[in-house]
Amino acid sequence: MVVENRLEEDTTVHWHGIRLPNAMDGVPGLTQPPIKPGERFVYEFMPPDAGTFWYHPHANSLQQLGRGLAGALIVEEAEPVQVDRDVLWVLADWRLDSDGNIAPGFGNPMEAAMSGRVGNSVTLNGSVPQDQVVRAGERVRLRLINVSLARIMALRFGGHSPVVVAIDGQPCDPHEPDGGRLLLAPAMRLDLIVDMQGEPGRRYAVIDDYYDGLAYQLTSFAYRGEKPLRVNPLDAPLRLPRNPLPEPDLQNAERHEMVLQGGMPSMRNMMGGGKMQGMSGMQGGMAGHGRAIWSINGTSMTGDGHAEMPPLITLKQGRSHYVTMRNETAWWHPMHLHGFSFRVLNRNGAPVLHNQWADTVLLAPKDTVDIAFVADNPGDWMLHCHVTDHQTAGLMTVIRVA
Ligand code: C2O
Ligand code: CU
Ligand code: CU
Repeated sequence: MVVENRLEEDTTVHWHGIRLPNAMDGVPGLTQPPIKPGERFVYEFMPPDAGTFWYHPHANSLQQLGRGLAGALIVEEAEPVQVDRDVLWVLADWRLDSDGNIAPGFGNPMEAAMSGRVGNSVTLNGSVPQDQVVRAGERVRLRLINVSLARIMALRFGGHSPVVVAIDGQPCDPHEPDGGRLLLAPAMRLDLIVDMQGEPGRRYAVIDDYYDGLAYQLTSFAYRGEKPLRVNPLDAPLRLPRNPLPEPDLQNAERHEMVLQGGMPSMRNMMGGGKMQGMSGMQGGMAGHGRAIWSINGTSMTGDGHAEMPPLITLKQGRSHYVTMRNETAWWHPMHLHGFSFRVLNRNGAPVLHNQWADTVLLAPKDTVDIAFVADNPGDWMLHCHVTDHQTAGLMTVIRVA
């Protein structure tokens, strides 16, 4: 891919979720020099895994991603599952002012200490969502990507039973989501198989009810009047072919712990008088480039990533590593690791089902999550929260594999 920078500022492109050589990872200052205005950079790699991925700049991320620089990257399977249609929904959140322009005020420190810049308008593939026209009886593979800066989504498909077949591009055991709710935080992807079992001529709402009291209808499945394509759901396997991921050896894995701290102590303090209290003491260990509000193991890398901070840990190349992440904050964090897909093993002590791999794992307030992976790819790799305000305000670090 040849990337030509026609912006008036530096940029890079990061290929989110693709396991690629470190020099192609797109982190300015860390894996490459920034692409200056008018310059080009050639990204060259062989994606080892089929699946649903995406790309976005890793420079001035709040503005560049927040103003729409994001795209889907789909690597097709050699032998795809049998479906009638393969459909992509890139979901993006925008904060618009009353004229419909993108509202200024990126990087507001108060927001950065809370849930980040959540907007007021969600688009589907770049437009205000229209009805999704479907035919009764068809089987659709639906690829969801949340490219929002901060908005977490929880989708419900009224009258339908979507089956999750891949998470962050990596196949899992096909399963229906807990409570029928598809949780999709920034940067996360889900591949679904949906059998359109509704009635011809009817409309079924797709609701996002993640935020209490702020449920809205994202779109709807609008059935054409014609007779069903087939009476019973297609009799074909749902399981995707597996990708060549190295399986971590849990018995002999090296153990590590990562503790997430910072932000406002709780919603209650935000309402009460004690504003910003929980943030004092969080300034230690910050590495320039803006204010630190969050930390990982007591250190904070801010901005978009840069080379000045030593790696938090060095992982022995070729070995299996078992990482426990503890969220001691009062906020949700989709934690993303560059360059690897990791197994998601346990959440709060209970095993995570359905053989899940991910590159971005969502931690609820006070959650503890265990992940594991083989450090087979050398280099300096970012680990950060994908709520962009959290990332740029310190919830970011570098992990070295050597
Ligand atoms: Cu989409 Cu640094 O990541
Ligand atoms: Cu990434
Ligand atoms: Cu976060």
